[in-house]
Amino acid sequence: MIIAVDGPAAAGKGTLAKRLATHFDFALLDTGRLYRAVGHLVVDAGGNPAKKDDALRAAQLLNPGQIKSDDLYTEIVADAASQVAAIPAVRQVLLDFQRDFARTPPGGKAGAVLDGRDIGTVVCPNANIKLFITARPEIRAKRRHKELQEKGLESKYPAVLAEIEARDERDRTREVSPLKAGDAWKIDTSDKTPDTVFEMVRTYIEDRSS
Ligand code: C5P
Repeated sequence: MIIAVDGPAAAGKGTLAKRLATHFDFALLDTGRLYRAVGHLVVDAGGNPAKKDDALRAAQLLNPGQIKSDDLYTEIVADAASQVAAIPAVRQVLLDFQRDFARTPPGGKAGAVLDGRDIGTVVCPNANIKLFITARPEIRAKRRHKELQEKGLESKYPAVLAEIEARDERDRTREVSPLKAGDAWKIDTSDKTPDTVFEMVRTYIEDRSS
């Protein structure tokens, strides 16, 4: 069983994916972490995330420990992630890892939840369940701003909104694997609580699998 959760930045994909994985006891892969880890490696090495050679070298060097790093949630890394993510060769390197995870979930789990931008369209087009989670940009920026403040990190709402909008624009307009809903069920979470979204999706999945 594969559940694909796609959508723009800070729409609530991560929260939903985590809850679904816990509820169904499935393995969880936040694929944004892969691109963030590559972006982080490039920036750390003093490279240019928009340059194919720098980004590809980092993607080839990536190891599982780097994906778990706590340093992946800065604006610089988010921006670098969306730059390396626009390079087809980088996406190709990360594709096999994602497909293997979906096909053979670690820990012998019966299913996998993957969240990202192109899971239902490119990585797992045959996923059993495809969701596209979205929300208005101001709402997403407000949530991300609050989340950063709660973590004790410095955050200014206008800067967060600008960063999210720039990243979405790059993710939507890139030639390779652009962010789009495709045939996924589109849910706008702007006026919904995380509990409501989870319950809607849980019922949908349980109805379809019974
Ligand atoms: O989801 P998150 O904000 O962590 O993703 C960081 C960046 O990684 C995105 O802005 C996007 O450019 C890229 N990404 C992607 N495909 C995915 C997951 C993330 O291109 N499946």
